Amino acid sequence: MTTPSDEPYLDRVLTMEVGRCTEAAAVAASTMIGRGDKEGADQEAVTALRAAFNKLEMDGTVVIGEGERDEAPMLYIGEKVGTGNGPKIDIALDPLEGTTLTAKAMSNALAVVAMAQGGSLLHSPDVYMDKIACGPGYSDGVIDLDAPLEENIAALAKEKSVDPSEITLCILDRERHQPLIDGARKMGSRVFLIPDGDVAGVFHTTEASTGIDLYVGTGGAPEGVLAAAALRCVGGQMQGRLVFRNDEERARAERSGITDFNKKYGLFDLASGDVIFAATGVTSGSMLDGVKWEPGFVSTHTVVMRSRTGTVRYVRARTKRE
Ligand code: FBP
Repeated sequence: MTTPSDEPYLDRVLTMEVGRCTEAAAVAASTMIGRGDKEGADQEAVTALRAAFNKLEMDGTVVIGEGERDEAPMLYIGEKVGTGNGPKIDIALDPLEGTTLTAKAMSNALAVVAMAQGGSLLHSPDVYMDKIACGPGYSDGVIDLDAPLEENIAALAKEKSVDPSEITLCILDRERHQPLIDGARKMGSRVFLIPDGDVAGVFHTTEASTGIDLYVGTGGAPEGVLAAAALRCVGGQMQGRLVFRNDEERARAERSGITDFNKKYGLFDLASGDVIFAATGVTSGSMLDGVKWEPGFVSTHTVVMRSRTGTVRYVRARTKRE
């Protein structure tokens, strides 16, 4: 017999519905691929995602969204979405992860959503985060955000029983990461540089087919929470620390309820409890195919996952278009 405590907080039907929401956002964003208008692409995705959310039977609150209320007209932090009936759910979203990738028709742009029981996702302010992540199968604590990069590479290589030259890192291609890039290459390791999109970058560590073992570097903190939600579903390790460039960013963090500005967040600090994660490809990438328009139809490729069961579903959908 099922007791209430055996009941998943986030039910199976909702998991599939979240995939419908990211599909809608990706399809809308895809109309802007290659048009050189990253804000316009984001706006299309935001409008479609909000409309899709509002069809869902849930009492949803956006905890990671498009910004604070006074700077984002839709899907702002604190906005209520859904019908208002059903479970209380915290939502982290990035309707278009890779606005520049979309504007320039480059690979790996995604529509991304994570949902969790109220209070389970770090209410991360829109600041930077130092991140380190690896895939599943390593002993606990094999990587450490505070250890020198060389030690992390050596620890992973040892557990894989390979030479450091067989380790591949994924790093955002930014000037600030040059010391990391140089350090990795000095060890003989390979560096896979990405122009944008570190949710996909972190996720790549969990997919053997990408060949990526380790993600390191500084990127968006909201993207860090979304990536952590994905890792909670498929396994893997991640740590992060918020990075503040000025008092305005520290004030932002305070408004989000952050009190310890130097905290090293583990995977479960970033995303705890039952989590569901969905992403749909906007442009094709190593994880998902992009949206394809054919006469009368549009096709999408989506991944939906649940932490409770660890199930990962790849869904190809073909939807009629007028
Ligand atoms: P957008 O989709 O908002 O353009 O973000 C893309 C992204 O590459 C993220 O994946 C990453 O976390 C962040 O920007 C890095 O920020 P920056 O471009 O300032 O280095």
